Amino acid sequence: MPTRAWFSTFIYCAPLQSVRIARLNDELASECAQLRDYDTAGRRCSAKNYPGGYTSYASLNELHRFSSTFAALEKKFARHVRTFIQTLDLDLRGRAVRMTDCWVNIMPPTAAHSLHLHPLSLISGTYYVRTPRGCPGLKFEDPRLDRFMAAPPRRTAARRENLSHATYPAQAGNVVLFESWLRHEVAANRVDAERISISFNYAWA
Ligand SMILES: [Fe+2]
Repeated sequence: MPTRAWFSTFIYCAPLQSVRIARLNDELASECAQLRDYDTAGRRCSAKNYPGGYTSYASLNELHRFSSTFAALEKKFARHVRTFIQTLDLDLRGRAVRMTDCWVNIMPPTAAHSLHLHPLSLISGTYYVRTPRGCPGLKFEDPRLDRFMAAPPRRTAARRENLSHATYPAQAGNVVLFESWLRHEVAANRVDAERISISFNYAWA
C-alpha cells in the first residue's frame, strides 16, 4: 500500500457487559430519576444551561463517590478504559488514570447538547441507560476541521477515516469512550421519550 493513514483519532464503543444489561439499566434509570427529583440546584442550573433537559454536571458530578450504584458502575467501566488506553499507546509513566467526574443526563423531547469538549481530562465517555428508538446519537467532529481552509469537501461515499463527522447511535447498554479533547454534540431529541445517559471523565493522576 503506497498510502497509509496516520494521526488517527480513536473512538471506543462496546457493550458494558454481556449479561443482565436490562436489569442494570432499569436500576440506573430509576436512580437517575430519583437524582433529578432530589437535585433542586441541578434542575435550576439545567433550566438555564440545558433547556428542557436535566444534567447533574454542575451539582452532583461525583456520583461514583456518593452512590454505591455509580461506584459499582465505575468498576464496570475500568476494563473498557484500560483497553482503550492500550489502543491509544499511552505511556502513563506508572501513574494512575482515575475517574474524576460522573454525572447524569436526561434529555426529554427537544433537549440538545451543543458542540463541546471536556477540558482538563484525559478520557471521557458516556454510558447509555435509556435510548428510545430514533433518539439522537453522539456526533464527533474531525479535530483537524479548522485546518481544512480551502480543502474541497469529501465525497459522500468517502471511506470512514476520511469523513469529517462520525455519529455513534445511542444504544442502551453501550459504553462509548473518546479522548477528552475530541469535540462532540448531541442533536435535539425529536422522539417523545426521555433519553438517559451517564457521562464521565478520567484524569491522569
Ligand atoms: Fe460531552
